[in-house]
Amino acid sequence: MAIPQHTIDQILDRVDIVDLIGQRVKLKKTGRTYSGCCPFHQEKTPSFHVYRDKAYYHCFGCQANGNAIKFLMELEGRSFIDVIKDLAQNAGIELPKDDFNVKKATYQRQQKPISAPQSSEQNSPTIPESDPFNLPPENDHHDLEQYFIEDFSGGANNEEVSLYDLLEQVTLYYQQQLGNAAHAQNYFHNRALNENTIQQWRLGYAPSDWQHLEQAFPQDIEGLKLVGLIRENENGKTFNLLRDRVIFPIRDSKGRVVGFGGRALNDEIKPKYINSPDSEIFHKNQLLYGLYEGRKSKANDWLMVEGYMDVIALHQAGISGAVATLGTASNSEHLNILFKQSSRLTLAFDGDNAGQKAAWRTLEIALPLLQDGRELRFFILPEQHDPDSLMRQIGLEQFQQLLNKAPLLSDYLFAQLTKQFDVSHPEGKGMVMAELRNLSNQLPNGSYKYLLSQSFRERLGFGRKRFDQALQDKDLSFSRIDRNALLIALLLHYPVLFPQFETLRAFIPQNGLLRQLLDTLNQVYDQLPKEVELSRYFALGACHELQQQLLAILNSIDLDDLQIENPEELDNHAQSLFISLKYKYLKQKIKKPSSVQESKNLMQQLHQITKQLSNTVIKNTN
Ligand code: UTP
Ligand code: MN
Repeated sequence: MAIPQHTIDQILDRVDIVDLIGQRVKLKKTGRTYSGCCPFHQEKTPSFHVYRDKAYYHCFGCQANGNAIKFLMELEGRSFIDVIKDLAQNAGIELPKDDFNVKKATYQRQQKPISAPQSSEQNSPTIPESDPFNLPPENDHHDLEQYFIEDFSGGANNEEVSLYDLLEQVTLYYQQQLGNAAHAQNYFHNRALNENTIQQWRLGYAPSDWQHLEQAFPQDIEGLKLVGLIRENENGKTFNLLRDRVIFPIRDSKGRVVGFGGRALNDEIKPKYINSPDSEIFHKNQLLYGLYEGRKSKANDWLMVEGYMDVIALHQAGISGAVATLGTASNSEHLNILFKQSSRLTLAFDGDNAGQKAAWRTLEIALPLLQDGRELRFFILPEQHDPDSLMRQIGLEQFQQLLNKAPLLSDYLFAQLTKQFDVSHPEGKGMVMAELRNLSNQLPNGSYKYLLSQSFRERLGFGRKRFDQALQDKDLSFSRIDRNALLIALLLHYPVLFPQFETLRAFIPQNGLLRQLLDTLNQVYDQLPKEVELSRYFALGACHELQQQLLAILNSIDLDDLQIENPEELDNHAQSLFISLKYKYLKQKIKKPSSVQESKNLMQQLHQITKQLSNTVIKNTN
């Protein structure tokens, strides 16, 4: 059973890890965390910590760590599926049916062709009025050559064949047909696609004949019906879904063709695009056109656009992170897939009213996914343009410039809300804040939620914007500042960021200043005042024994140098700092592990963080 990541996340969200572990290990509240004796190694003094907010446990002694699922798997020696089923049931979450069963992705290939190829004239099915594809063959000039279509179905007999293999053959067939269809080739050329692009995307052409697939694949009718390429009318006659259309094969994340989009060759023909229907191997809601190709070219910045042609045109121009949904509105599954590739995502929308509406709707869907460190931008296109036409008109350089200027969610949201309400009055400001509160309730818990509302308050003129003047010493450039000091300064300015760093405590040696600051914040975090200014004084006050050293750092580091302008940027700095510090301390710790088990656990973590590190641009640190 394949369980989608979002379902796993949902389950983990619902489980209270303190509860779950507390039922098996005696836990005691210590500051912000809960601790007890580690169940994974022998010990007398508790070094096992559970972090409720992070839904994570960590043992300082043997470095065992993970989430609720891993805890149960390791403690009780159970399988992933077993644990997931259990947790899902307790959380009242339904698991997907077993629909990824490999067996169903096959069909029985006929031993012999059911009938010899027939003339399309004789064979043209009568299609009932209600059929949405009740269209006459748009153009009937392909006639005799249809009889001589190669048999692409190979020689194998009476066997169970995979639908993936079938679609691979069909793709080759459509590609080959493109070679015979000058008008289809012209279509692509008129849309400025070059030969290389046509090859790379495996573009093709479906002939206008009603039954070309039956002729090319006489043994595979059953499979072709399963994937929706062959349909049947009321009288039992079959016909092909895609006719006289250029073909866009759709690949899954492994690069296997799983479906097709077909575009009419001129804009009078409706519908403009026909997509093959969902099937055992084609789940439109879980696929993005261009994802496989983008990953192959190691795209870092992902841009969600609307159509196939946008994706192809952008890739051809050099923007390899362009992806599109398959004719459906984007859902949280799509966004989740992209956030797994990178924490930075831009959504492109048309400049018209419909585009603005779509942008707002997508914003609402995206909110629950915006964990700390994720960055969402809104690229609103000039009116009358889609990404394809814009790229053609202004070229890569200018396109990239516009794209880089796309506002972050916080700026987009602020602009939208202040357009809706008149903020020259306190009442209007109140409305903006109320609306923001509604929306940010959807955000996951974390510092971003807090920073967003703080930044709105500042922009609307509640509260002060500048940092304490006394801290603005421009003596040091950030390239020379060590990461520990930077984190100390960051935490003293924004104590609310602490939860993002709390798990670092497990790696940093006990006597260092940073560790002591983290330990203190762990103790006082729950009492921090909400107002940012007050929280700074409170944090500094709580660390009175360290004050001298802390002030020295504050005096030497000017956070203004980071040029943090929005909450996203602050969040991002925090995230990359976390990752790079965790990497640094893990590397130290791994040099002298206290046991084989600890060494194994540390290696696992190092492997994970190295992956994250390679996805994160570490800015302003060395
Ligand atoms: P658009 O209508 O915006 O077209 O559809 P487009 O992408 O600019 O296409 P071109 O440039 O005219 O070729 C956007 C996407 O919506 C889906 C397709 O996936 C298309 O790429 N769509 C559109 C359909 O599924 N059916 C349609 O009839 C139209
Ligand atoms: Mn277009």
